[in-house]
Amino acid sequence: MSDTIAIADLTGDEARDELARLAKLLLRANQLYHTEDAPELSDADYDALKRRNAGIEARFPDLKRADSPSDQVGARVSDGFAKVTHAVRMMSLGNAFDDTDVADFDRSIRKYLGLSDDAPLGYTAEPKIDGLSLSLRYEHGELVQAATRGDGESGENVTANARTVSDIPHRIEGAPDVLEVRGEVYMSHHDFDALNDRQTEIGGKTFANPRNAAAGSLRQLDSEITRSRPLRFFAYAWGELSAPLAETQMGAIERLKALGFQVNALTRLCSTTDQMLDHYRAIEIQRATLGYDIDGVVYKVDDLSLQNRLGFRSTTPRWAIAHKFPAELAWTRLEAIDIQVGRTGAISPVARLQPVTVGGVVVSNATLHNEDYIAGRDAKGGVIRDGKDIRVGDWVQVYRAGDVIPKISDVDLSKRPDDVQPYVFPTRCPECSSDAIREEGDAVRRCTGGLICPAQAVEKLKHFVSRKAFDIEGLGAKQIEMFYGDSVLPINTPANIFTLKERDAGNLARLKNRDGWGETSVSNLFAAIDDKRTIPFARLLFALGIRHVGEVGAKDLALFYRDWDVMAASIDTARSAALAQRAADEAEDAERITATAEGRRARIKEVRDAAVAILNVPSSSASAWADLIGIDGIGATLGLSLSDAFANPEEREAFDDLRKHLTIVPPDAPASDSPVAGKTVVFTGTLEKMTRAEAKARAEALGAKVSGSVSQKTDLLVAGPGAGSKAKKAADLGIETLDEDGWLQLIGDL
Ligand code: IVH
Repeated sequence: MSDTIAIADLTGDEARDELARLAKLLLRANQLYHTEDAPELSDADYDALKRRNAGIEARFPDLKRADSPSDQVGARVSDGFAKVTHAVRMMSLGNAFDDTDVADFDRSIRKYLGLSDDAPLGYTAEPKIDGLSLSLRYEHGELVQAATRGDGESGENVTANARTVSDIPHRIEGAPDVLEVRGEVYMSHHDFDALNDRQTEIGGKTFANPRNAAAGSLRQLDSEITRSRPLRFFAYAWGELSAPLAETQMGAIERLKALGFQVNALTRLCSTTDQMLDHYRAIEIQRATLGYDIDGVVYKVDDLSLQNRLGFRSTTPRWAIAHKFPAELAWTRLEAIDIQVGRTGAISPVARLQPVTVGGVVVSNATLHNEDYIAGRDAKGGVIRDGKDIRVGDWVQVYRAGDVIPKISDVDLSKRPDDVQPYVFPTRCPECSSDAIREEGDAVRRCTGGLICPAQAVEKLKHFVSRKAFDIEGLGAKQIEMFYGDSVLPINTPANIFTLKERDAGNLARLKNRDGWGETSVSNLFAAIDDKRTIPFARLLFALGIRHVGEVGAKDLALFYRDWDVMAASIDTARSAALAQRAADEAEDAERITATAEGRRARIKEVRDAAVAILNVPSSSASAWADLIGIDGIGATLGLSLSDAFANPEEREAFDDLRKHLTIVPPDAPASDSPVAGKTVVFTGTLEKMTRAEAKARAEALGAKVSGSVSQKTDLLVAGPGAGSKAKKAADLGIETLDEDGWLQLIGDL
């Protein structure tokens, strides 16, 4: 075997082959180790292979592979870990930045639950640990799986590594048969300093902050490395449970403590917002001496039955919020302003800064939002930073809040050099020279080039492959940059991704022979692409990167239409009504903004054209349009944007081409055992037993579609006291109507 050849004797060709072979062996070893608990290689053999790989790379640095096993230590590797789908989604938290936000949080909860301002309502308040979240699954008391959060729906299987963390028990007594404990893995300041010292001594990589160190340590492919890094774990939440832990949040935390988990000693029960804020300030004072990083305080509704009623928005619970500590600040020099063009054409100015450390992280870029922001105005024309504009060469104050992109909060005019000029914002796209225009009411200037603009096309592709979209392993932003416009094997459209393999096969300059690619990485890439030929409808819709169509909108559209062709046909039918709507909106705008005689004449013409357009809209189009914007959560803005995308020839061609390569999976059939599954329900009038928001969330959880307007498609109207035109329309259309009690009876809540 070639590993008998001493490294010093290898020829270049032999070294290349050998690196490919080692990459494959080590990849397989890692997979076996983590996914099957059945390693084929002993630790000593594994280490020997790794050393050999590193030795060859040291002698032939040019031959180092893009997927080199040596980069898979300490780096953010995901390839080596198997994916785990969370039984219960892992949520993140909404943020509060000041006392008012906390008061708003309390108010919105009371409103949702229909509680008065002075009704008793308890909250827990506890430190927000700055680490990474982890879900531990226990079955019959045994730790069977540990998974990172990932995108919330699925994360990485890091069980072997979690077992090395001493705060994580391998066995617990007296727990429910299924118990998923969730909490934060973190590193103490003391251990972080010691680790960095040790890394410096051995010439290894040092970490910017304890959070990165904890993340890097937990995501090691070799759990012996994780074992040598002193990680800790605080439990603060749970996922799937076969039996409830307690009736309150505080009770559940106490139960977790009794089961042997570390829980944070600064967790308090509060009965007023004032008490919550007092505890926040008490924690803030102790922050520096806690010995680990925290970045705020988390408040949670204490009563678990209320938590249950409050439920979740798309990615955050309604019953909890993170009250963040104020951001950290630093002053530095603004060296340049660069312009980036986003996937929807938005022209965003980016500040290039003299690098400066802000809260443990080196910052060299910051967002400048838009032209008004640079000029010292907000979107409504109000003054910000006392009206001080930002110029290249200025001293600027930079701040960071958590993971958020750094921003500029102030300018020091006393340090402004004499020769600096006000910044002139471009009115043409720097990438494609198309006009960059700013629409009425839009804070951003946008390139009008559409898919003709290379920057928009590339950004759309990056979005297409991103984690919440197609999430193709081995095809990220970096690879998109590489393939876009490639002379031999271009990926210029989403469909091009799915023809990559066949185009590569007919090619002399095969991908595997390129720098940074090899047999394994290419076949992995093709497999990852094949894996995504079947895609959930909502993901596909989100992936298209249509302006205003976010994750939630995509889900709503998918639930409503269920089928791509049905949706596309309906959007086409709705086109003339959509255009009429736009014309009418624009005419209305013109009315608002024109006072001159000339303006009035123009306005009269617009209003007339709009009226003609509206009158000429066929009723099928009007009703397809009404269907679209009647979907709860979808309004005219999203509807128009969707309509424009489907009517734009380049975009439509890209959609149609792509569609040919895909099997589109409709959303899960709604729970069929519910009497309202698949039905379209409209709520109107006053509800007395629950708020409108809660009623809607309940209905959706039971598989119903909730719409804002009554139409032929409505199956059921739930009318409370004071119901007006909707009730009348429903009666005219012969639609079944229930009162609130009738509804509760139907869904089994009464
Ligand atoms: S509760 C469903 N409590 O903050 C609610 N999260 O920004 C689950 N975090 O993803 C979260 N300390 O990783 C909760 N005491 C705490 C926390 C905490 C830190 C993290 C967690 C979450 C993130 C959201």
